[in-house]
Amino acid sequence: MRISGWGKYLPARVMPNSEVAELVDTSDEWIRARTGIRERRIAAPEETTCSLAVNAARAALDKAQVAPEDLDLVLVATCTPDYANMPATASLVQHALGAPRAAAVDMNAVCSGFIYALATGSQFVATGAYKNVLVIGAEVFTRILDWQDRSTCVLFGDGAGAVVLQPTNQPGGLISFVLGSDGAGACSLYVPAGGSRQPASADSVADRAHYVKMLGRDVFRFATRVLPDSVVEALAAASMTTDDIDVLIPHQANTRIIDHAVKRLHVDASLVFSNVERYGNTSAASIPVALCEAIECGMVRPGATVVLSGFGAGLSWGTVVWKWHA
Ligand code: ACO
Repeated sequence: MRISGWGKYLPARVMPNSEVAELVDTSDEWIRARTGIRERRIAAPEETTCSLAVNAARAALDKAQVAPEDLDLVLVATCTPDYANMPATASLVQHALGAPRAAAVDMNAVCSGFIYALATGSQFVATGAYKNVLVIGAEVFTRILDWQDRSTCVLFGDGAGAVVLQPTNQPGGLISFVLGSDGAGACSLYVPAGGSRQPASADSVADRAHYVKMLGRDVFRFATRVLPDSVVEALAAASMTTDDIDVLIPHQANTRIIDHAVKRLHVDASLVFSNVERYGNTSAASIPVALCEAIECGMVRPGATVVLSGFGAGLSWGTVVWKWHA
């Protein structure tokens, strides 16, 4: 199989750290030193996860020269769907694109969601079941942020990225993957209310329980362990080592987490793509957006071994080893 098309969409509005510092007690210096983030994008009021996803998807379909009518499957990785419970955002995207033949479903593994969706979509192509699969990571994460909580609101942004998967008789595609979960850490990073455990109520709104809560240090410890471990495990499953990596695209959560992982993996920093300083953490969108930009800047060359690795709430993680087509 191959990734025959790729596309991204970032909302136009740029929110620099200085603007966040007008809302909560923080500073540009603190945010840059602890996270590497300088600015993030904020969706316009009329934009939704679906509209961001559709913009990224159209770019990917154009690149792949695939008509929406020919799509077999639309997978949308997101934890900020347009509707809290139903329908799936993927169904909205499928309709907006004009893809009547396509099956559509959301996948929520939070920041690992795109890796889960890419590994899943690839199976349909590998078995020959489907020929045109659209995999999207899209989030309007800033709508679930508590803009009074400086420990979380400085970290995240909005965006979307998409790829089109197609079969090919050339070598390449998904070489190996590792997917994992540890629900024991569920409350390290979560939104307490709005689900069946704590349905929305006047109290839940008054308690600000519909916003993200995070134990930052716990997540940091988890991320710096699981990112290098899952990269090594996925490479081993492909009979490869870190020496075989041509491009490493980690989830763009935080420069310190990425630096930590790169050091532990002994990977040359020039092989690691990062754009977290411009977009912050866009959750499920971060890896496909980064992949698009790594392709655009010429880092992903024909035949390259590209390692994509995500981690996030769940807790969850996933790494894909992908051989780029020649
Ligand atoms: N501005 C200024 N001070 C702050 C801010 C802020 N935005 N946030 C916290 N602080 C303060 C704290 O109150 C604390 O002050 P105190 O010492 O007086 O109590 C001090 O800074 C240190 O706080 P820590 O939480 O220990 O700071 P830390 O060095 O751990 O950095 C951070 C915090 C950046 C959140 C870090 O823990 C981290 O990166 N964690 C991982 C977060 C992450 O990537 N989450 C997303 C995962 S992906 C997903 O699924 C969504």
